[in-house]
Amino acid sequence: MVNRMTKVYMRRLLGQDDARISFGVNVMAARSIFLQRASYFEQGVTMYWSVETMIVFSFADHERMLDTLHPAMQRGNCEIRRFANGELFISVRTPAQMEHCVVLGSVAPPDERLLSLALLSHTLKKDGSRKVTLFLPYLAYSRQDKEKPGESLATAWVGSILQASGVDEVLTIDVHSESDKHLFPISLVSIYPAEIFANTVMKYQLTDATIVAPDNGAIPRCKAVSEALGRSATGIPYFQKQRNETGIKRSDMFGSVGSRVLIIDDILDTGATLISACEKLLQTGATEIYIMVTHGLFTGPDWKKLWSLKVQRIFCTDTVPATKEILDERRITILPIGQLIKEHMALLRDIAVNR
Ligand code: R5P
Repeated sequence: MVNRMTKVYMRRLLGQDDARISFGVNVMAARSIFLQRASYFEQGVTMYWSVETMIVFSFADHERMLDTLHPAMQRGNCEIRRFANGELFISVRTPAQMEHCVVLGSVAPPDERLLSLALLSHTLKKDGSRKVTLFLPYLAYSRQDKEKPGESLATAWVGSILQASGVDEVLTIDVHSESDKHLFPISLVSIYPAEIFANTVMKYQLTDATIVAPDNGAIPRCKAVSEALGRSATGIPYFQKQRNETGIKRSDMFGSVGSRVLIIDDILDTGATLISACEKLLQTGATEIYIMVTHGLFTGPDWKKLWSLKVQRIFCTDTVPATKEILDERRITILPIGQLIKEHMALLRDIAVNR
């Protein structure tokens, strides 16, 4: 039996505006939604969807990720092309009126994909979509998150473009910083793949490696993985990092490490951050280094220097589609996040930020 208070709460959880969902019919599902919601309270976010009521439009390079998600999800069909002069054109072939539409695709490459996402969202909203959710496993421009006079604040700019294009909310994986969430004018929810990383640490027998943060921003990530491993999350060794025109200036390490080290960060872009961290770690006696990042951009050739700095293996997730060169590199292991997304999507229906 569901008591009155529970019913009232369930009605709030499930959303009073959606006639297709009746409360009280599935107490277990509602309980799961309750638990799911409770976990998001920590981030100041309420989030719950039902996959049966969504239409998902996926960019081609995320089709494989989409395949691992809920089979009941309806797939949207649209064509994105460019006219001879370079203008984007979008034709949506799945009726979207009154539907909750989800668009799946990372903002990579940044400029081309950002415009496609904005125009597709605008088209869906123009056609009467009830809600447009972007699921962007990798959100480019999230590192421009600091207010400095005369310099762009691109995170806020991207958020404004998406809002003006009709996007209601954005779901991403491991957003660069907490500031990003505040700079976005619409809901921005980030999921961290701590469990995936912890399982990988166990699978590759790296439990004796010291987890190290290459800069301050990586400390919460290292803590989350340590906790998922059932370890203490205090005393993570870390560096302080400063970027200037000539490169990265790094402090000596705070804390101590053993001979096996696991560096955890959000992004491997050019590799400069990790190269400078490895150089310092070798000076402190590390002899075997492993790297675990959420987003493997692998921009340019410089990151390959990591192999000469005792890096044994680089782990990254598939938020950014890998090139053939990366797929062929046997020392890089790509960890799929489809299952993680599935776990969240199966019970989630809506996002609302308690601002
Ligand atoms: C910086 O704060 C980020 O967390 C990454 O460490 C950084 O952006 C990675 O970029 P790169 O590989 O070019 O150093």
